[in-house]
Amino acid sequence: MKLVKLGSLVFAAALSISAIGVQFPVSAKANAQATLTIGFAQTGSESGWRTAFTNSMKAEATKEGITLQFSDGQQKQEVQIAAIRSFIAQKVDGIILAPIVETGWDAVLKEAKDAKIPVILVDRDVKVNDPTLYPVTRVAADFNHEGRLAASWLAAASAGTQWASGCNIVELQGTTGSSAAIDRAAGFADVLKLFPALKIVASQNGDFTRDGGQKAMEALIKSQNNLKDICAIWSHNDDMLLGALVALKTAGIKTGPGGILTVSVDGVCDMFKAMSDGLTNANVTLLPDLGQLAYQAVRDAIAGKTEPPWTVMPSPMNFPDTAAAKYKACSAAAS
Ligand code: AHR
Repeated sequence: MKLVKLGSLVFAAALSISAIGVQFPVSAKANAQATLTIGFAQTGSESGWRTAFTNSMKAEATKEGITLQFSDGQQKQEVQIAAIRSFIAQKVDGIILAPIVETGWDAVLKEAKDAKIPVILVDRDVKVNDPTLYPVTRVAADFNHEGRLAASWLAAASAGTQWASGCNIVELQGTTGSSAAIDRAAGFADVLKLFPALKIVASQNGDFTRDGGQKAMEALIKSQNNLKDICAIWSHNDDMLLGALVALKTAGIKTGPGGILTVSVDGVCDMFKAMSDGLTNANVTLLPDLGQLAYQAVRDAIAGKTEPPWTVMPSPMNFPDTAAAKYKACSAAAS
């Protein structure tokens, strides 16, 4: 598993580098030629975006000749922690963690640090009590910015409509304790403070899943008088909104242009279909292709290069005018 290639004394002369505060084992030619074994502790498979992200990580590993030990965390932190412990026991070269929730990682991060195995965060963030345990770097979008983009769009879209003087919003929240849900909600709320006409009147947790979104919307339809006074739906991800659309259709409630405004995050293929069918209004893209940067970060850590704490991915927005073309492109790529 180690980076050292047998048959070459040069490779066998393993060094230690302490430039980033942790000493990782490194061979003289680690960066260019070694075969890496990387453990990837994925959150689970709760959404279309997550599946696209997993597929992209696997495809990039194959392309780069990396041996990827993949673990599906099944939406449970304890499963992710057990996977990390198993990666440490296997003496992998690096660990990539997509954490389900923000807190509770200190002990296992210390174990990885003690084993001198670099940990790279992808997607969601962690909060650690001991800052020296924070992973080498994070490759991820800015979730707070995504929330800000969604709210800014909504403020502009509702101005000049019958909702200009009062826009009541219902919110579909992602997994409790996840940085994606926490930061998106915070960014959205911050922008809302600038627009007193816009107000979140009810929130329901849908756990980032379609089923969760459908159930959450069924509850909201009941508690909010069939959404009669609701101007907009803000969903922390596409899958929850796609599930909600099923409930809304059953209740005969119109969304999209001419109906209740919607905005969500991810940019999954089915959302482009829903948008091109006139059911949704706006979407913030969460790019799923994080593998190349994450694998490079493992190589850099092993080679002792200093990493930026966070490589921020861009968050472009999608609207109905390009949805049909995007749906055509993504459905063709999938087949
Ligand atoms: O952490 C990113 C979020 O996780 C995505 O927006 C969502 O679809 C996934 O479940």
